[in-house]
Amino acid sequence: MTGDMSSELVFYVNGIKVVEENAEPETTLLQFLRQKLGLTGTKLGCGEGGCGACTVMVSRFDHYSKKICHFSVNACLAPLCSMHGMAVTTVEGIGSVKNGLHPVQERLAKSHGSQCGFCTPGIIMSMYTLLRNDPQPTIEHMEKAFEGNLCRCTGYRPILDGFRTFTKEYCAMGENCCKNKNGNNNLQLEDGVGTDLVKTKAFLPLDATQDPIFPPELQNSTKFDTDYLIYRGERVVWHRPTKLDELLDLKSTYPDARLVVGNTEIGVEMKFKNMKYPVMIAPTHIPELVDITHTDLGIRFGASVTLSRIDQELKEAIAKYSEPKTRVFTAVIEMLRWFAGYQIRNVAAVAGNIITASPISDLNPLFLACGAVLEVQSKESGRRQITMDEKFFLGYRKTALTSTEVVINILLPFTSKNEYFGGYKQAYRREDDIATVNSGIYVVFEDNSNVIKKLSLAYGGMAITTIMPTRTMAAVVGRKWDDSLVMDICRLLADDLPLQPGSPGGMVEYRRTLTISFFFKFYLSVQMQLQSMHLSKTKVPSYLHSATAPFHRDPSKSTQIYQEVASGQREEDPVGRPINHLSAMKQATGEAVYIDDMPKFQNELYMGFVMSKKAYANIKSVDASEALSMPGVVDYISHVDVPGKNTWGAALPDDEEIFATTQVLCEGQIIGGIVAETQIQAQRAAKCVKVEYEELKPIITIKEAIEAGSFFGSPQKISCGDVEAALQQADHVIEGECHVGGQEHFYLETQAVIAIPKGEDGEMEMFISTQNPTESQHVTAEALNVPANRIVVRVKRIGGGFGGKETRSVMISTPVAIAANKLGRPVRVMLDRDEDMLMTGTRHPFYAKYKIGFMDGGKITALEINIYNNAGMSQDLSWAVMHRAMFHSDNAYKIPNLSTTGHVCRTNISSNTAFRGFGGPQGMMVVEQCITDVAYTLGVSPIKVRELNLYQEGDRTHYGQLLEHCTVQRCWDECLNQSDYFRRKKEVDIFNSENRWKKRGITIVPTKFGIAYTALFLNQVALNQAGALVHIYMDGSVLLTHAGVEMGQGLHTKMIQVASRALRIPASKIHTSEVGTNTVPNTSPTAASCGSDLNGMAVINACKTLLERLEPIMLENPKGTWEDWIKSAYINRISLSATGFYKTPGIGYDFNTGKGRPFNYFTSGVACSEVEIDCLTGDHQVLRTDIVMDVGVSLNPAIDIGQIEGGFTQGYGLMMMEQQKISPKGILYTRGPGNYKIPGFGDIPVQFNVTLLKGSVNEKAVYSSKAIGEPPLFLSSSVFFAAKDAIASARADAGHHGNFILPSPATPERVRMACEDQFTDLFPKAKEGTFTPWFVEL
Ligand SMILES: Cc1cc2nc3c(=O)[nH]c(=O)nc-3n(C[C@H](O)[C@H](O)[C@H](O)COP(=O)(O)OP(=O)(O)OC[C@H]3O[C@@H](n4cnc5c(N)ncnc54)[C@H](O)[C@@H]3O)c2cc1C
Ligand code: FES
Ligand code: FES
Repeated sequence: MTGDMSSELVFYVNGIKVVEENAEPETTLLQFLRQKLGLTGTKLGCGEGGCGACTVMVSRFDHYSKKICHFSVNACLAPLCSMHGMAVTTVEGIGSVKNGLHPVQERLAKSHGSQCGFCTPGIIMSMYTLLRNDPQPTIEHMEKAFEGNLCRCTGYRPILDGFRTFTKEYCAMGENCCKNKNGNNNLQLEDGVGTDLVKTKAFLPLDATQDPIFPPELQNSTKFDTDYLIYRGERVVWHRPTKLDELLDLKSTYPDARLVVGNTEIGVEMKFKNMKYPVMIAPTHIPELVDITHTDLGIRFGASVTLSRIDQELKEAIAKYSEPKTRVFTAVIEMLRWFAGYQIRNVAAVAGNIITASPISDLNPLFLACGAVLEVQSKESGRRQITMDEKFFLGYRKTALTSTEVVINILLPFTSKNEYFGGYKQAYRREDDIATVNSGIYVVFEDNSNVIKKLSLAYGGMAITTIMPTRTMAAVVGRKWDDSLVMDICRLLADDLPLQPGSPGGMVEYRRTLTISFFFKFYLSVQMQLQSMHLSKTKVPSYLHSATAPFHRDPSKSTQIYQEVASGQREEDPVGRPINHLSAMKQATGEAVYIDDMPKFQNELYMGFVMSKKAYANIKSVDASEALSMPGVVDYISHVDVPGKNTWGAALPDDEEIFATTQVLCEGQIIGGIVAETQIQAQRAAKCVKVEYEELKPIITIKEAIEAGSFFGSPQKISCGDVEAALQQADHVIEGECHVGGQEHFYLETQAVIAIPKGEDGEMEMFISTQNPTESQHVTAEALNVPANRIVVRVKRIGGGFGGKETRSVMISTPVAIAANKLGRPVRVMLDRDEDMLMTGTRHPFYAKYKIGFMDGGKITALEINIYNNAGMSQDLSWAVMHRAMFHSDNAYKIPNLSTTGHVCRTNISSNTAFRGFGGPQGMMVVEQCITDVAYTLGVSPIKVRELNLYQEGDRTHYGQLLEHCTVQRCWDECLNQSDYFRRKKEVDIFNSENRWKKRGITIVPTKFGIAYTALFLNQVALNQAGALVHIYMDGSVLLTHAGVEMGQGLHTKMIQVASRALRIPASKIHTSEVGTNTVPNTSPTAASCGSDLNGMAVINACKTLLERLEPIMLENPKGTWEDWIKSAYINRISLSATGFYKTPGIGYDFNTGKGRPFNYFTSGVACSEVEIDCLTGDHQVLRTDIVMDVGVSLNPAIDIGQIEGGFTQGYGLMMMEQQKISPKGILYTRGPGNYKIPGFGDIPVQFNVTLLKGSVNEKAVYSSKAIGEPPLFLSSSVFFAAKDAIASARADAGHHGNFILPSPATPERVRMACEDQFTDLFPKAKEGTFTPWFVEL
């Protein structure tokens, strides 16, 4: 290929040939599928390979093995140019609602495995790929297939349950099989109780013959693999040589060129670090680089061999060779188990991992420790061998290769019987996470002895490169492998691997402790092997054995128990039945449309935001001139373009600016926006807008705000009794503090909006991913200076909200509307994940100081709490969130004298906002912390203290509300029984007495959650209202519209169930299209768990009106059909359209008088969780969770159980995993799934049982149901407190008794460091104030 010509790119998508003449090397497969081919089923969730929403299957014919290989791939990272000769299958290619679903799609949908649906296509494609490779996988294999997929809604259980039906172990008994169900063997089922949310017998069979065939053209010709390809783009040229000489020539000509195989490093660097690589070379088709050979010394892998292929080869080698030979291989396989997900391992190559030279590479520590040998070659110097040792990494991301050398292959050595090898990794999340610290350890003994001949240690995460502590390694040669070695090595390592306080990455003491924890584990496992060979006299006591076992998780099990509908209920009446989410099928086929799936409007533009890079600064100047001269750029939009008000507020007017004018108050605040023809042009140009700042000193943390007196408003208080007096009379008084971290919403669909100016009378139509159409409408109208009646906001569905789109969507939609208004053209934005995480705020971090008075028996008599939240740069809903925290400071306990005072801190971080639970979980966390403090102080079980203080019927809360139909005690008793708590607690105690480094904890925690909007000041009691609009058309079909947004919670499904009963017609006759401000006006946000309660009542009222109008006609023709009646109603000129309205009666609370009834009613529940921790690493596993929840008479048990499981799992992230990291200067580090971990498939309880309390009634809501969205979230604290119990046991073994602080989230770092012992003692915490921490506690 010469001159400026580009090669043709040929590949197949869903069986159709695609020929691209001008393939752009910077285009990803995902962009091409969505934008060029209009295949929008494949979603963009993160763009960095971390969520799996973009998963597709890629197939290629391997001419060497003559086999078709199928593998799952992240389309967001896969370069379009790498697709030549491949066949891509997307979710649209396997089934559709119109032509029939594929069994994978059908089973996920029917198993209730899709809520908001945004993650669903990616999950479908992971499962589909697995089945194409193995039509009947084992359960273990199936559960692992989703390491690279995330879902924020479902809690994963229903997905796994649905897909379990494809596995080998699934028995013909289906859901009744004891193996497949039933995590709960203590259960006595009564009559009328249902356990089958899914009818698996009706599932379509999997028929492999129906799978699309691989395109014969790709199979019959080798030219797709052998042609030299070159693709020339706007900024990058892509070469695909097919001979080694060509590759070496290219690298010699372009020494700065990047070699791209999986693009899993380079893709991320280009997107997020703004790196430009003008020449890219794909060494994917060079025979020497994809070769695998077995030699006398080991196995040699070509540099471009993928990690999945290495894994497979090593597994086969282990089966082929005798054990001592394969010890390195075993460790590599174990490490690959925790290396990213399948989608990454399927494309990422071994050389990419080595040459990126990341300090936290997972493979490099192993390669260094075992002395793997690389063959490298350049045109200039020919081929040479390099042993990977302490000299291989020369500095940050620098290796011993010269700029023109490429890696040809790597030799992984065999081991002999005197050699032992281990690999270790600890991360925030086990699956698909980068290491905090990892290690490869290799020891060689003198023949037939335990005398060390050589010790190699290599660590990642401890320096700017993978590092070998060479002094330690040398010092122990000649020593015996015995207990005296351990503490010596620990002390040596402590010196050899120093880390200064405040080092990048933080967690300094933890990381240093891990280095010796890993060694200790290795020491024990080698000692046990030496002992078995009679080479060591040291006997490892049995209580140490479990420290050495690799992580194991049993297959998941579960039960779901609910009350079936009464036997007399009409068959057509769907209320109370577990019917599917009505969009589930469309979501599973990718046909469900989200904002960015909408086709482009004519003349449409994209807006790239210019955001503040400082946390607090005066804006000295803004210069957009360079950006404005860039290709495709149309305009720069800022505050001068706002025709109306440039301020808005969620609760207060003028709370914040739409575009910053003179000052920025947080990093990520919007200063302006570049509007351009395409997204890439807009985003690139926005980065070129120059802003000059005058920096001011920011306030970032709650403690800094307290010190500086930086608050929104004055403190507010709720109290009952006489706290002072009760504290004086208490047997014990203790003080404490508690910190609850924030939480990123991580809805899978980021904030998105399209604004379309209509060109007449100031009209504008807006499609927004929002929970709050009305607020978006009103703020837009004020900004554009038009009446609200000119703005229509439409929402079909949103890909998750969780509170994050309740008010913060407005900060995105308004600037877009301003741009569209100025330019008179449609403008679109869908935030990238990093932008979304930076700009849109999180759950509020909370800090509380408290004083508890209690009696000898454990009865709490007084509690005084001062509670603070971190609001960020504007007030938003922070006071409402604080109020809910204050209202929930009692959780489920009667504390006769309680005072809780709230303070809202003003800081320079992005504005924190609503998040499922809305402050309730944080408030409840404080009192649960108090419960454990009391228990640990008295030396009794926390269960006893909880039980003793539990609310009873007729009690009054600290804000004076009477508890009627209080079911906390019933849920408690049933949970104790169903979880078999007392028997299992004994087992836990036995386990703990028999194991020193693994510990278990089991605990039960209740919750009582108040239902109503509590934003009651500023007249926001008004939010407790809803409207509905019901049209009946002449053919009898019904269009139901109400005020609630469908965000995955199944609201539209429930409302159709309600309307179906109310109108006495089948649900199939009713349809909901969307929510719009032009159909139901003045709506409240869909939030506060009230969606079904408020809208359901409004729907019933509208239906009642219609039925009243129809009644005479029905009486006249009692045997007529619905269609007959509607026809005659039309002929008789009866209106077939009605509105319904509802407001919650009798609620309100006055903070000044402390009087009122803030909640309509309460939803209660109880959870029991059992957790196992690894005391040496801080890792944990939830072994079992049992939940008993009172949802009244469930409108739809499948949806309600889905909310419980999803809420619990999200709460589990809050309690145990999700940690925001921000610098002391307010710069956010955690901007994507790469460094912010939400729970994955492998994190859910191994046994997960949910029971809906039977026989509970609730006259205060629709058909006796109860709200369920938020209440279950706090039950996840049972995991936190079970982990705390386990830690207490570890501490006791080390001689530490009594109370201790465990902040939430209880990350592996916090769990490990709370298990104080001889290892942690080596690394005392540096004194606060003596160094600048890398990140701060918000
Ligand atoms: C979501 C996600 C999860 C990840 N998880 C992990 C993890 O758990 N552990 C971990 O260690 N890493 C992880 N990574 C990092 C990455 O996947 C690995 O480093 C991977 O091995 C890189 O391979 P690649 O083929 O994709 O590299 P590419 O991005 O294609 O290339 C990376 C670099 O290697 C160079 N290179 C490639 N081949 C050669 C060669 N033959 N000779 C010389 N230079 C060469 C390129 O020039 C380039 O600089 C993750 C990445 C992502 C996106
Ligand atoms: S969008 Fe590709 S993995 Fe998240
Ligand atoms: S259903 Fe999985 S993210 Fe919403």
